[in-house]
Amino acid sequence: MYLEHLSLTDFRSYAQVDLALQPGVTVLVGSNGIGKTNLMEAIGYLATLSSHRVSSDAPLLRFGTERALVRARLVRGDQTTVLELEINAGRANRGRINRSNPVRARDLLGICQTVLFAPEDLALVKGDPANRRRFLDELLASLIPHHAATRSDYDRVLKQRNALLKSARAGRFTAGHEATLDVWDQHMAAAGAALLHARLELVERLRPHLSRAYAQLTDESKPADAIYRSSLQNQMDDDGATAFGVPGQNGPAGAAGAEELRQLTVGQLTERYVQAFRESRKKELERGISLVGPHRDELDLILGQAPAKGYASHGETWSMCLSLRLASYYVMLDDARTGGSAPVLILDDVFAELDVQRRRKLAAIVAGAEQVLVTAAVDADIPEELSGRRVTVIPGGIDEQEQ
Ligand SMILES: Nc1ncnc2c1ncn2[C@@H]1O[C@H](COP(=O)(O)OP(=O)(O)O)[C@@H](O)[C@H]1O
Ligand SMILES: [Mg+2]
Repeated sequence: MYLEHLSLTDFRSYAQVDLALQPGVTVLVGSNGIGKTNLMEAIGYLATLSSHRVSSDAPLLRFGTERALVRARLVRGDQTTVLELEINAGRANRGRINRSNPVRARDLLGICQTVLFAPEDLALVKGDPANRRRFLDELLASLIPHHAATRSDYDRVLKQRNALLKSARAGRFTAGHEATLDVWDQHMAAAGAALLHARLELVERLRPHLSRAYAQLTDESKPADAIYRSSLQNQMDDDGATAFGVPGQNGPAGAAGAEELRQLTVGQLTERYVQAFRESRKKELERGISLVGPHRDELDLILGQAPAKGYASHGETWSMCLSLRLASYYVMLDDARTGGSAPVLILDDVFAELDVQRRRKLAAIVAGAEQVLVTAAVDADIPEELSGRRVTVIPGGIDEQEQ
């Protein structure tokens, strides 16, 4: 698919901006701080309902405004769709599809599909596990839109269960609370099992693409892999410490554990959680938090014999981040639901971060995608492989003479 038009109202630095787009490569050039990322962020937000830069909506609204509008026209095969998203301060965001009546923002998920590369991606490897869980859940929401509902159900139950555990820790735990906790256990087990099942499947789909992308980017090199580690496998290890107590030693065991869980149905996983909650109840009551569940899981990224985190060089870390994004691109491409329609690739300011070799390799891999949007402060950062249409971003908008 490709975006044919993007229009923003009161989004970030833009009062109003219109950007006409075409399939193929488009490079947006403009000095730092001019608003390139703001444009890319808006497209990413339309796709995932979250920003790659901030975790709340407030910074997306132009200073002093209460409502931002993101509108896009997308073309998939011979079908054109107009998406509108209203981001509201203090009340629910709303969407519209082909000028329909307003729908929940969530109903827009899965329609605009993008894969966004950004300097913030370094956190995929170097950051805490929440970054990697978010990576999986966002990709799932693009592939299976109802996954977003599963995730928010889980978060709601988790919050309530934690509140109950906290009150128990404060010494106010009665038989009545015990019964309530039993009920929350059931809810959390069911929601957690659905989440875990989907993540395990997804990781299995990502793995071959990840190792292939890494090999493509680096020629030589160490095999790259990703192994999902559920807190069900190590529920006694309450800090969720890495599977690699000693590098390379627990890797295969972690893989075997994930594989075993992957064979289970959602119902069987639910039972596993109920059992695990029972076993960790004493500890949870002492600590006042939920110690087992998908919110404690990790995606171990592995290079050769060692985890990427803490072992990989800067260059290897970047290759791993890029490979994860490329892998999600290939998974979307393969997905039956998208019917082979390619997601839009967005490379926001990544070339400046890469050495010449990686730049050229990445450029060669993405150059043939249906639509590639690239931003850079200077032309010199863009490899020749990506010579395409140039758009100049100027203060408050786009240089119209080029449009
Ligand atoms: N909510 C907002 N309202 C108004 N301006 C904003 C808002 N958020 C960010 N900006 C401005 O947007 C600019 C950054 O734009 P950005 O797209 O990140 O630039 P770049 O071209 O370097 O990618 C900054 O000048 C910042 O002050
Ligand atoms: Mg930027």
